[in-house]
Amino acid sequence: MDFTEESATAAVVASFDATPDPRLREILTSLTTHLHAFVKETKPSRQEWEHAIEFLTEVGHTCDDTRQEFVLLSDVLGVSMLVETINGTEVGGTEATVLGPFHMTESPSRALGETIDEIGTGTPCTVSGTVTGLDGVPLRDAEVDVWQCNEDGFYDVQQPDTQPAGNGRGVFRTDENGRFHFRTVVPSHYPIPTDGPVGRLLNATNRHPYRPAHIHFIAQAEGYEPVTTHVFVADSPYIDSDAVFAVKKSLITEFVADGDRRHAEFDIVLAKVDQ
Ligand code: BEZ
Ligand code: FE
Repeated sequence: MDFTEESATAAVVASFDATPDPRLREILTSLTTHLHAFVKETKPSRQEWEHAIEFLTEVGHTCDDTRQEFVLLSDVLGVSMLVETINGTEVGGTEATVLGPFHMTESPSRALGETIDEIGTGTPCTVSGTVTGLDGVPLRDAEVDVWQCNEDGFYDVQQPDTQPAGNGRGVFRTDENGRFHFRTVVPSHYPIPTDGPVGRLLNATNRHPYRPAHIHFIAQAEGYEPVTTHVFVADSPYIDSDAVFAVKKSLITEFVADGDRRHAEFDIVLAKVDQ
């Protein structure tokens, strides 16, 4: 049969008929169907299609061991958050959000109450909370891994000449009451990397590159599903327009002023691993 606009989709879908893995077949069938519908709807010129391929090629060339431009593309298109949301946590559990690209080094182990700020500038702040199961039972010895940017909006890995490795990072273990607490400085809002093709896409669409101020968390305990999440600073700029769509209402937390310090309380609820 001739390849026509009408017959194209069925022909390509049929070419996957012998795929032994049923899930792979389902995904390729759906991808073909949606991709063909997109092309039929937008009718790209040959030049536009070439431009699209060049863009994706450049996204690939911008990736290396420490830079993942494809993840960034997925982030700004809302796909990363869609995947997080579809795979959501059980009702009542702490909601998950994007991991982001700055968890590439191991956080130093720190004692409860220690500071993760090794520089001493910025607004001092304490963060505490309890890790519990869905039933409210406190989880002792749960691991709470945190990382954040400094008050100027940079992670340690972005400023190796001015920030010591491990600044803004720490791995804590909850006490016998499931409690954790640490000292830090209030993080700043900051722009995602804009010096690559994803930055050009934002620029071409008049979108800003900023993320509201947040502290990243990965919490895990034996027998429970780990959660990757953030605590967002409630009064941060861009709290309503995160460049990567990662804000969930339940994660917005008041950093309450107490003299010249601030304090945030952020409880984490984990769901049991399915038995
Ligand atoms: C971050 O919060 O570290 C982040 C997340 C997505 C894209 C860029 C940065
Ligand atoms: Fe971040």
